[in-house]
Amino acid sequence: MGALLLTGIGELVTNDPTLGDGSALGLIHDAALVTESGRVTWVGRAADAPAADAAQDLAGRAVVPGFVDSHSHLVFAGDRGPEFVARMAGESYAAGGIRSTVAATRSAPDELLTANVARLVAEMRRQGTTTVEIKSGYGLTVHDEARALAIAGAFTDETTFLGAHVVPAEFADDPAGYVDLVTGPMLEAVVEHARWIDVFCETGAFDADQARAILLEGRARGLQGRLHANQLGPGPGVQLACELGLVAVDHCTYLDDADVAALAGSGTVATLLPGVEFSTRSPYPSGRRLIDAGVRVALASDCNPGSCYTSSMPLCIALAVREMGMTPAEALGAATLGGAQALGRDDVGRLAVGARADYAVLDAPSYVHLAYRPGVPLVAETVGGFRA
Ligand code: NIG
Ligand code: FE
Repeated sequence: MGALLLTGIGELVTNDPTLGDGSALGLIHDAALVTESGRVTWVGRAADAPAADAAQDLAGRAVVPGFVDSHSHLVFAGDRGPEFVARMAGESYAAGGIRSTVAATRSAPDELLTANVARLVAEMRRQGTTTVEIKSGYGLTVHDEARALAIAGAFTDETTFLGAHVVPAEFADDPAGYVDLVTGPMLEAVVEHARWIDVFCETGAFDADQARAILLEGRARGLQGRLHANQLGPGPGVQLACELGLVAVDHCTYLDDADVAALAGSGTVATLLPGVEFSTRSPYPSGRRLIDAGVRVALASDCNPGSCYTSSMPLCIALAVREMGMTPAEALGAATLGGAQALGRDDVGRLAVGARADYAVLDAPSYVHLAYRPGVPLVAETVGGFRA
């Protein structure tokens, strides 16, 4: 494959502050980009662009790094639309709904689960996402968790073992026995299919001691940790994530000053999931407060059938701007470079020489339109990323 010159880029977001206007987004106007064999080989002003084997003129459209969606639960069967309707009428979100998806997922054939992931990944791609993390967590048996991760692994390298999502009904009287299963035979069965290990650390799911034990056992087996924390109320999860030096802690809906200070003093990325607040009618956390405190922030979809069934990173960007006090530039950065940091990746989330040539072309002159024109399908083309 030869070199491709993309020229006529009205606005290029590189996420490299040494490029272009020197802002965090490293904006270049009237830009060009050269890619070869899936990598960026040249970035700069169109007037200075080198010759290439082929060229594409974008006629003033904007180009942004492909979105890095660092949190999703795509391996499931069933539908929980009625739960959503009830919440919009005033019911509160109850994590117990997870068990109904577990029942539907366990009884679904592999082909149906795979087709569902393929459908959602295609949806994501149409909306500019090029990297996605996919969790298990709706199987909760040795066989079903390994099956979910094998299916996820056909679409992404960013696979996460979430056997500790909730205690399944058959272990309701023996939660300690379930933790032993997760840290023993289940971990053994999934370790070859997973890169990460996650725990839902929340009242009604797993407490801090259980979460610590599970994360440390996973780490001993070579899986890096991440955590669902402080989603349904204040709790110990964010502090635990910082104590263990996890790469990311996700949700962060209910934070006190000590949580924010712990995040600011750690390298742990706070991943905000505004689609969840939208779909559960919970209060939005303040991205502004975190950024002003010096915390690294990511945005992700949390696409799942219960708390948030959107696959749209542009929607998350728009919500972060409207509801979380983030500027459009901060929100775009969090949905691209922030997501990459939340996955410990430096080859995605930016468009500088050497990075992967994963990008989205927008039917718009500027990335600002992602928030300015909410709900409009602005992604004209998504290039690179994914494996299937
Ligand atoms: O990230 N919080 C736990 N897990 C998912 C919700 C799963 C569900 O409701 O099915 C989440 O919000
Ligand atoms: Fe989640």
